Amino acid sequence: MFNVTGLKYRYPRNAEDTIRGMSFEVQGGEIFGLLGPSGVGKSTTQKILVRLLQGYRGQVTYRGKDLRSFGKEFYQRVGVGFEMPVHFSKLTAEENLAFFRRLYANNADTDELLRRVGLYEDRNKKVNEFSKGMKIRLNFVRALLNRPTFLFLDEPTIGLDPGNARVIKQMIREFRDDGGTVLLTTHLMNDVDELCDRVAFMAHGTIVETDTPKNLKLRHGQRQVEVEYEEDGDVCMQSFNLDHLATDDTFFDIVRNRRIITMHSKETTLDDIFIKVTGVQT
Ligand SMILES: Nc1ncnc2c1ncn2[C@@H]1O[C@H](COP(=O)(O)OP(=O)(O)OP(=O)(O)O)[C@@H](O)[C@H]1O
Ligand SMILES: [Mg+2]
Repeated sequence: MFNVTGLKYRYPRNAEDTIRGMSFEVQGGEIFGLLGPSGVGKSTTQKILVRLLQGYRGQVTYRGKDLRSFGKEFYQRVGVGFEMPVHFSKLTAEENLAFFRRLYANNADTDELLRRVGLYEDRNKKVNEFSKGMKIRLNFVRALLNRPTFLFLDEPTIGLDPGNARVIKQMIREFRDDGGTVLLTTHLMNDVDELCDRVAFMAHGTIVETDTPKNLKLRHGQRQVEVEYEEDGDVCMQSFNLDHLATDDTFFDIVRNRRIITMHSKETTLDDIFIKVTGVQT
């Protein structure tokens, strides 16, 4: 869907490039996660791909065509849900949606979407009377308003309670399962585990890793089992390599002859991988 090669971008008043040579592709029908520390350029990258920022260097194609060659029709089937929800605060939720609906040839059933995100009863309330989480959910509905085939989401669940976050995540998965493609950013590694088919980690303005969450865990994984056991009244702890467990005499000696207190396989988490590949704490 998107093919990005050697992308560079400098904000007009800045002395240095924010994006320093990024290459990646977003394939049709996948949820692609763009991850990385705060300020690395995730939102900037999304803004370039939705054509809000011009003057980038490098090559970006969308559906095989140069991104620069598109006109307004680009937005007809692209949905955008950005970080800071922007609504007309003096209008109701319904009036906001009606305003944006007119811009598009294709319209989703917004009553149905409002019901799903739990805002149907509040649709005639002015948006300045909405809570933060309500504005975020309305922002998500707006992103789906034009029945997009490609969806940009910048931290879609941040600021939502776990129940509402679950609904939004389910809707994102359904969008993908119906053939849609998603490019999302998030700092929540749990969301990545639940949603992303592939992820790219950004550091210092470039991409340092791209793979499926599963492959990343396998590649960066420790594959160890940690055994806590009792020996002569003391509590001891020892780690064993999972790959050589079957032939590890010490492991079998402990399992046969000691009282085991706990035994855990130590799977590497995406949090660990994030810190390792970007060099920054989440
Ligand atoms: N309009 C702007 N003008 C100049 N610099 C900007 C502008 N917007 C962002 N930047 C800078 O570009 C860099 C990347 O910002 P960006 O918003 O893309 O980061 P991010 O990865 O989305 O971070 P976060 O996780 O905090 O949302 C930052 O150093 C930021 O200060
Ligand atoms: Mg951002």
